[in-house]
Amino acid sequence: MKGKVYIVGAGPGDPKLLTLKALEVLRGSDVVLYDRLVNPEILHLLRSGTKTIYVGKKEGEQEERQEMILNLMEEFVREGYKVTRLKGGDPFIFGRGAEEVLYLLERDIEVEVVPGISSCIAVPELAGIPLTLRGCSSAFAVVSGRRCRGEVRWSDYAKVDTLVILMGVGNRDCIARELIKAGRDPEELVAFVEKGTWKEERVIFSTLGSVAEGLVEVDPPAVFVVGRVVEFAKTLKKSREVVAC
Ligand SMILES: C[S@@+](CC[C@H](N)C(=O)[O-])C[C@H]1O[C@@H](n2cnc3c(N)ncnc32)[C@H](O)[C@@H]1O
Repeated sequence: MKGKVYIVGAGPGDPKLLTLKALEVLRGSDVVLYDRLVNPEILHLLRSGTKTIYVGKKEGEQEERQEMILNLMEEFVREGYKVTRLKGGDPFIFGRGAEEVLYLLERDIEVEVVPGISSCIAVPELAGIPLTLRGCSSAFAVVSGRRCRGEVRWSDYAKVDTLVILMGVGNRDCIARELIKAGRDPEELVAFVEKGTWKEERVIFSTLGSVAEGLVEVDPPAVFVVGRVVEFAKTLKKSREVVAC
């Protein structure tokens, strides 16, 4: 029998945010290689006998883990297994999914991608923050906060109505300072949504200025949202009324 690899998005955490297609693929898999941001409750949905392997990466060991993951996928698929590479959110949003597809195609291995609901959209949304809002935000940008200086041009992103920053917890102070330097108002509201859609979800509201001064405690993983749309969630939480921005 010919094996195949599925690169599947698991959504942000809540198993109910898995797509029907992802569920179908998972239930038909022999082996599932899953990431750190995949909610382990999703693994309860697999048929019994499916082999599950945790391949989450710690800071500093990404490259060697990635090589191990590629080798594992190749090994299992060459033995004829249906292999699912299960990633948090969507596999192509800061997920190295495209690199994995290329690796497999270069080796003539059949591969199919199953998109997932990305944390960049679902996590703010379920915390009551719309990324676009008539009269308030007509554009949003999703930016990696993994590095504060160097390749990320915060002065360009600072012009976008709503900023959604992933992997930005560790650099939050520096990012906030760069955005203020580029002209954003220090009084502007921001939100961090920690472990969005998981049972442990926590939403922290603050201002850009407070973040810049290092006054805001946040734990990863979190989505960092900057923009006037954050006011919407605060009002929504207080009064449940929709307000104009
Ligand atoms: C390597 S990126 C992967 C993003 C993923 N592919 C997606 O589409 O959601 C990891 C970052 O996504 C964000 N993230 C993912 N899941 C999250 C969740 N449930 N709650 C908050 N942030 C999350 C965090 O910023 C985290 O550092």
